[in-house]
Amino acid sequence: MSSRGHLLEALKQNPFVLAPMAGITDHAFRTFMRQKLSSVVVTELVSAAGIEHKSERTLKLMSFDESQRPVGIQLFGEDPSQMAKAAQLVEEMGADFVDVNFGCPVPKVVKKGAGSAMLKDLPLMGKLLGEMVKSVKIPVTIKIRTGWDSQSRNAHEVAELAYNEGITWVAIHGRTRAQNYTGLADWDYIAEVKAKSKVPILGNGDILSPQQAVLRLAQTGVDGILIGRGALKNPFIFVDALALWKGEKIDKSINRDYFKLYTDLAQVLALHCDEHILGIQLKKFAAWFATGYAGAAQFRKSLFQSKSNAEVLDLALEFFGKIGSIEQEDTSQEEFLMGGHG
Ligand SMILES: Cc1cc2nc3c(=O)[nH]c(=O)nc-3n(C[C@H](O)[C@H](O)[C@H](O)COP(=O)(O)O)c2cc1C
Repeated sequence: MSSRGHLLEALKQNPFVLAPMAGITDHAFRTFMRQKLSSVVVTELVSAAGIEHKSERTLKLMSFDESQRPVGIQLFGEDPSQMAKAAQLVEEMGADFVDVNFGCPVPKVVKKGAGSAMLKDLPLMGKLLGEMVKSVKIPVTIKIRTGWDSQSRNAHEVAELAYNEGITWVAIHGRTRAQNYTGLADWDYIAEVKAKSKVPILGNGDILSPQQAVLRLAQTGVDGILIGRGALKNPFIFVDALALWKGEKIDKSINRDYFKLYTDLAQVLALHCDEHILGIQLKKFAAWFATGYAGAAQFRKSLFQSKSNAEVLDLALEFFGKIGSIEQEDTSQEEFLMGGHG
């Protein structure tokens, strides 16, 4: 099977994919989320210009291990030849695919014409993708927003362009750049694009439960569902969504073992982080995973007052040990990480 065939097959077996999130989906978290059944993982966005200088920081962002496969490296940039060269390095490093970020709304990226700004210049997008696809044998995928603003939504055109340029899939975050993280992702629009698209489409935005993930998949006919923030509030979302999608029941006694979950996370983090970063990560993830459970506010307070990593681990294991199969409250109305690079 071709490398493109392999990647699409992974999606067919399991259509639920962890969305790239800068500062979060790093080496350790990707390894962890593959263990928790995200079907594919992607790095956070990496600058093609940074790659040219091969800075240590950039190479670290791009590092992965075998357990993460299929793993993609996400690039951003506006210069076609620089992006093509960066894609070649991604291929040399052995990644399974290269993803391009056309969704980032952040001014620093957009000002240069990269990220979501490329949605305003489809001829340049076509040239850039054409050069990238020509330069590598691995699949090239893209991640976009629905358009620059509500007057210029053009995901239909982008999907057609992507098909013509030989792109393997288009992931659509269902908001415009102008919306940033406000409002709700427009899944009706994603469904419209999917209905006409000749290229596989992944839908993305505001999926917070496994039930929602399965429902959106069925309602819109998309080929896959990208889940970002929902996986931070509920790291079992992939295990549960996959079970539901296969017609199985969610077995909370097995699937919701937060104690094991947190121990697994601590183990992967310890392999990849120094003591200082380990402390930050252990607190951050524990605080997110506690969302919607009784006592979360007090737990977070104690976490951030703790003096050592051992204390953080003790507190977290005590809290998560008590959760058992308690229902998580619906916190979808609360604002949560309302900013990012896509
Ligand atoms: C903190 C944060 C960082 C993000 N970084 C990236 C990124 O590096 N590349 C990207 O394509 N999208 C990035 N995104 C966007 C997410 O991939 C996703 O499109 C968005 O969060 C909507 O999906 P969700 O509602 O499931 O979180 C980021 C989002 C957040 C919250």
